[in-house]
Amino acid sequence: MTLTLMTNRGDMTAPRRSAITVRGLRKAFGEQVVLADLNLDVAEGTIFSLLGPNGAGKTTTVEILSTLVAADAGEVHIAGHDLARDPGSVRRSIGVTGQFSAVDGLLTGEENLLLMAELCHLSPADGRRRVDELLERFDLTEHAKKVAATYSGGTQRRLDLAMTLVGDPRVIFLDEPTTGLDPRSRRAMWEIIRELVAGGTTIFLTTQYLEEADQLADRIAVLDQGRLVAEGTAEELKRRIPGGHIRLEFTDERDLTAAARLLDASPEPDSLALQVPGSGVRALRAVLDRLDQEGIEPETLSVHTPDLDDVFLALTSRPGAEKKQEAAR
Ligand SMILES: Nc1ncnc2c1ncn2[C@@H]1O[C@H](COP(=O)(O)OP(=O)(O)OP(=O)(O)O)[C@@H](O)[C@H]1O
Ligand SMILES: [Mg+2]
Repeated sequence: MTLTLMTNRGDMTAPRRSAITVRGLRKAFGEQVVLADLNLDVAEGTIFSLLGPNGAGKTTTVEILSTLVAADAGEVHIAGHDLARDPGSVRRSIGVTGQFSAVDGLLTGEENLLLMAELCHLSPADGRRRVDELLERFDLTEHAKKVAATYSGGTQRRLDLAMTLVGDPRVIFLDEPTTGLDPRSRRAMWEIIRELVAGGTTIFLTTQYLEEADQLADRIAVLDQGRLVAEGTAEELKRRIPGGHIRLEFTDERDLTAAARLLDASPEPDSLALQVPGSGVRALRAVLDRLDQEGIEPETLSVHTPDLDDVFLALTSRPGAEKKQEAAR
């Protein structure tokens, strides 16, 4: 089993076991290569987030790792089990909340959960106990006897995740768990995810919300057209791209021109503003000192540090670029 040394959150001294390792994973649908030589390591009890534009291959990755779709090549180990040799053990160790809900709209929330308990081979008494516990924990008790089709999107998503937890999985795959949720429901889902991880569960999460990855993930990988284009903590990814700058706005053209010359920066088109590279305290002090020496006072000043949106936009391809890249390959 592979050992991964954690350098970010959690116990800094103890090496953690790997919950998921992926080596050389490949998948094509016909001519289209959807995953090309994917390698991943996810340490036990951490949150790993896979980011990428639409069509990057996130759902395909989740489907392969959760044994729903067969890979063309590669080695996958989950919770210590070899996915190719022992898919049954992998299945017993994992839970999956897919991008599209597994909730049966014609059944009540309670019936959906009891059905899951049966599928997980819990005895009727254990199943009943587990379902009541989950209804309570996910704030679903008042909805328990209503058919799921009448639930709001957020409630349905909570039920979906509750169903995933019936079998008490060690590793959970969440494919865009908060898409379509309002900010409050999203935060409630984040809290649930944090609690699960605090209890030792490993979470493999895909999301289109970069703030979500920033908030939750111990490590983030960016997937673009089936290839990993970056991997690291949110801070490491942000450090990789330039884009930190100080933006200064002036009241008149004369100050703007003087400041632009002094700071060797180009004014933004159609505004009285300019951007100076750098976002640290030292850069800020240097800029203000120079302006001060010349008696120039900016009207407003803002500091822009790169966020994950900048990382995403810098690292992933634009729509339409796909064809060109395909041709160049
Ligand atoms: N069963 C399939 N048959 C053929 N092509 C498929 C199949 N499943 C996925 N694909 C293709 O594989 C590529 C990756 O799809 P996938 O659903 O993994 O992307 P994704 O990153 O999850 O996108 P999204 O953000 O839109 O959910 C897409 O081009 C998709 O059309
Ligand atoms: Mg998807």
